[in-house]
Amino acid sequence: MNEDNLNLIDTHSHIDMIQNISLEEVIANAKENGVSKIILPCAYPGDIDKIVDITNKFDNIYAYLGVHPSEVKDWDDSLLDKIEKIAANNKKIAGIGEIGLDYYWDKSFIDLQKEVFIKQIRLANKLNLPINIHDREAHKDSFDIIEENNEGSTVIMHCFSGSVEFARECIKAGYYIALGGVVTFKNAIKMKEVAKDIPLERLLLETDAPYLTPVPFRGKENQPAYVRFVAEEIAFLRGISLKELADATTQNAERIFKF
Ligand code: NI
Repeated sequence: MNEDNLNLIDTHSHIDMIQNISLEEVIANAKENGVSKIILPCAYPGDIDKIVDITNKFDNIYAYLGVHPSEVKDWDDSLLDKIEKIAANNKKIAGIGEIGLDYYWDKSFIDLQKEVFIKQIRLANKLNLPINIHDREAHKDSFDIIEENNEGSTVIMHCFSGSVEFARECIKAGYYIALGGVVTFKNAIKMKEVAKDIPLERLLLETDAPYLTPVPFRGKENQPAYVRFVAEEIAFLRGISLKELADATTQNAERIFKF
């Protein structure tokens, strides 16, 4: 059981993609490890209905709806209407995501990525919902597009992978930084610096399960229960208690998502 009475929130976890254990087990393990809520991001347009079903079925599962930058070839403007209809007045839809730019996997359709990113930012603004940003090797363009287009939505940089300087720029612009398993990797010097540097009131925790499994389970399939290893590492780096780190990041999430 959750012996040390932790209250953690995994703010980005693809629990629908976990292969080795059932969704029920995923959620039970999370609970036992003090994870009270999980936000499930949408990546593929075809997954929207499945993701909404999961949030309807389980109390503590919320969702971001949106299309991942690597999947924008399947974009259709009718998705804006679809997402708007589902998200309006639905407390289980925590934001629009994961949206952004990815110059790592495929650079052949950058213009389309930007176009779809902007449309989804405007949708979030219209719905007054936070945006969960996927930025891979596209820091400057992602930042510029957000600054030029976002009107009022809270910005969360999911799986932050930039430098301390970029983190400071994001903090100055009012964004939140979400850190996951990478911060536990021995060679992740840059990420450890970021974890120490950013103000506690702008920090969020995530797993990005089933990917990026933290130490000591690196190499195995990730799950929300392991968000506590992320929390432990960041607490250690900052020289504060696990409880303090958990409470602060959970309060941040509760404030952003109105949980
Ligand atoms: Ni993700």
